[in-house]
Amino acid sequence: MPAPTEFSRLQIILHWLVALLVVVQTLLHEGIVGAWDLVEQGGEMEFSPIVISHIIIGAIVFFLILWRLKVRIRRGAPDFPSKETGPQKLLAKLVHRAFYLLLIILPISGGAAVFGGVMPAAEGHELMAKALIILVILHVLATVYHQFVLKTNLIQRMKF
Ligand code: HEM
Ligand code: HEM
Repeated sequence: MPAPTEFSRLQIILHWLVALLVVVQTLLHEGIVGAWDLVEQGGEMEFSPIVISHIIIGAIVFFLILWRLKVRIRRGAPDFPSKETGPQKLLAKLVHRAFYLLLIILPISGGAAVFGGVMPAAEGHELMAKALIILVILHVLATVYHQFVLKTNLIQRMKF
């Protein structure tokens, strides 16, 4: 099947919805970190509204990313711009795959810690959340590089 020439409207909506929820999740992490500190000190998990919202948003991201992955596998994505070098294409591919992988494993590890009492899962969750933030920064820098250096107008592909 030939690659599509553009992302579908559904792919674009899911991209921005997931991006928004990931930003909210990252900015509002203090509540769950505080609650988890208490658990690590031997206390009970306190399901305050901020903790519950972290769990619910995380679960929503989980289902949205699975949906995104299904659409991505079925429909594909436009080819990378021809101005990109081989290593740049490879890096973009790896970062995109890492996003899918991290956004599937993050909610599972969070759930394993909170509901399964698997303490090391929380440590993995914390590390993966940090890796995700680094990749998001790299991803945004790559978009800026495309816009102003390669001048491919890549952002147009993710516009409604
Ligand atoms: C948490 C935030 C984000 C995540 C997890 C994310 C994830 C992704 C993924 C996985 C793709 C590949 C799409 C696919 O092939 O299925 C993608 C594409 C893209 N993203 Fe993001 N993104 C995020 C935020 C952003 C932001 C803030 C921008 C704008 C600066 C942006 C701009 C783009 C563009 C332009 C593409 C298309 C790249 C191409 O056509 O090769 N993303 N994003
Ligand atoms: C894609 C979804 C998720 C993202 C992006 C995310 C992101 C984060 C971030 C940024 C932190 C703070 C890490 C730090 O200490 O610097 C965190 C902590 C935590 N999250 Fe999530 N989370 C997600 C889903 C979930 C889910 C679904 C649960 C539970 C069911 C959960 C449970 C936890 C716990 C227990 C902590 C505290 C870990 C610790 O301090 O060691 N998370 N999360």
